[in-house]
Order: sequence, then structure tokens, then C-alpha cells
Amino acid sequence: METYHTPALLNESIEGMEIRPDGIYVDATFGGGGHSRAILERLTTGKLIAFDQDEDAKANALDDPRFIFVHHNFRFLRHFLRYHNIERIDGLLADLGVSSHHFDSCDRGFSIRHNAELDMRMNVQQTLKAADIINQYSEEQLARIFKLYGEIDRPWRIASQIVRERQHKPIQTTRQLVQILTPFLPPYQRTKELAKIFQALRIEVNNELGALEDLLEQTKHVFNPRGRLVIISYHSLEDRMVKNFIRYGNVEGKAEKDLYGNMIAPFEAVNRKVIFPTEQEIEKNPRARSARLRIARRTVYEPGS
Ligand SMILES: C[S@@+](CC[C@H](N)C(=O)[O-])C[C@H]1O[C@@H](n2cnc3c(N)ncnc32)[C@H](O)[C@@H]1O
Repeated sequence: METYHTPALLNESIEGMEIRPDGIYVDATFGGGGHSRAILERLTTGKLIAFDQDEDAKANALDDPRFIFVHHNFRFLRHFLRYHNIERIDGLLADLGVSSHHFDSCDRGFSIRHNAELDMRMNVQQTLKAADIINQYSEEQLARIFKLYGEIDRPWRIASQIVRERQHKPIQTTRQLVQILTPFLPPYQRTKELAKIFQALRIEVNNELGALEDLLEQTKHVFNPRGRLVIISYHSLEDRMVKNFIRYGNVEGKAEKDLYGNMIAPFEAVNRKVIFPTEQEIEKNPRARSARLRIARRTVYEPGS
């Protein structure tokens, strides 16, 4: 049977949460429930609220009276906490991006390994699919997302090739896209470059950076003092947003000071340096190789929070 997902940095992230048995915790990215199970094991009277916007993750929901599954985007964190009568939480974990299940699914278009419709939506209720981006975005827009989210060296070449090809026939499948781009990629790095192009499309389809920003902003208002914010990211842009948020209280990294010149930041870093998976973990679970973990602690409340 296919493994839905092997959780990355499991011990490090769960230790970082400093779980209190009676605390209230959020797993913002439930997936296969690996992190959630580990959180639940440490609770007695506590509660765990888990979010996942993907319909498939629902089937993994844990049968436990202390567990609540929310089938929605984590960008609506505050709304759903209110809905469940929860005012404050003691910790939140987000293990960003997609799960192995997404890459292994043959029909969802996330992977270059399977021929499928160019879809890539985590939430299938959403209308925007990868094919819409490929066939409707301007050359400039395409080049921008390939550069920013795929860190592709010469994004213009790829973008202009897509625009040229789609004039003859819409590009609807992963195989079509791979065939169109293959001659333009260095043969020794073809798979890697294609994976980066697919990653860029996926980040755009799911507005992953927008959702992360909304989530982080809302954490300012829902934590008990000393509550832990634990974020595993897989992309340098995500990690920069998390780092800035922990240091400055905003994802752009703008320093804000009070009247006395003290930095106003709702969280403080617990680990000075980012935590990476060990060699042993990467050997066992190669998909964890780009994971990076940051842990922060809630400081005092600002007025009005
Ligand atoms: C890396 S996996 C998490 C795996 C999980 N920690 C585990 O142990 O199985 C990320 C999961 O978060 C979900 N996800 C990503 N972005 C989301 C968002 N904005 N809102 C809700 N769920 C999201 C994805 O559907 C996916 O199942």
C-alpha cells in the first residue's frame, strides 16, 4: 500500500512544540497525520485542531474525541478557531507544501512522472488549475513565477517556448509540457529543472505564499504567552518569510520599534539557527532533504491583540 506521507523532522518539530498535556494545539497541515499523531500522544485533556484543504487527507482523520479535523485552508485559522469556541492556542505546527501523496497520485498533475491533466490544485473546489496558468498567463508572468518560485536560471527561454507552443495547440497535460520543454533544458539536469518548473506552477496554483502570510499574521492574535510556533518550510522564499516574521513580526522584514526603541515582535526565536534534517533522515526519506525548521515562542501581547 502507498505510504501517504513520511513526516519530516518529526522529533525535532514535536520537541520544539513543548507540548503541555492539557494544551490546545493546531496542526495546520494534517496530510497523512504523522505530526498530528505524535502531538495527540502527548495530550491528556488537551485538544488538537488539524487543517488540510485536500479532500484526500480527510480519510486519514484521527478517530479521537480530542481531535477536530477542519477541511479548509489554514489561511482561515482564526475563523475556524472561533467557530470551535477556541480563543487561544498553545502551539501551532505547519509542515508546508504538498505531501508525498500528491506526487504519487497519477491523476493530479503534480509530478513529472505521471501523465495527467495539468491540474495541481490541493483544493479541488478551487477553479484555477496549472493548465490555466500555462495557457493564459503572459510571457512576463510565466517568466516571473519560474524565476521566483522555481529559481530557474533562464526563465525567459522557458516562458517564450510555452507561449510559442500554445499558439498552435493548448497545453493540457504534464506529458505535453515535459515534451515541449525538454529540448530547452540541459540534458544532465533535465529532471531537476522540470521538477523546479512544476514546483513553480504548484506554488502559483495554490497561492502558497499568500496562504502562509495570512496564517502567520493570524498567529499574532491567537497564541497564549509562551505558545510555540513551529514551521517546516521547503523553499527559500517561504523560509525567508518565516524568518522575517519571527524576527520582525512581518514577512517583509520591516523593523518596527516602540517609543523606547525596542523591537515590536510578537514572537522570539527559540533556535537561533534553522534546523535541517540529519543525513540519516535524508537517507531514509529523501523527500525531507529540503526541509528546514524554525521554532519561535510567543512573547507578550500587543495592545488590541
Ligand atoms: C507536507 S504535507 C504535511 C504532512 C504531515 N505533516 C504529515 O505528517 O503527514 C502538507 C499538507 O498540507 C496541506 N496544505 C498545504 N497548504 C495548505 C493550506 N494553505 N491550507 C490547508 N492545508 C494545506 C496539503 O494538502 C498537504 O496535505
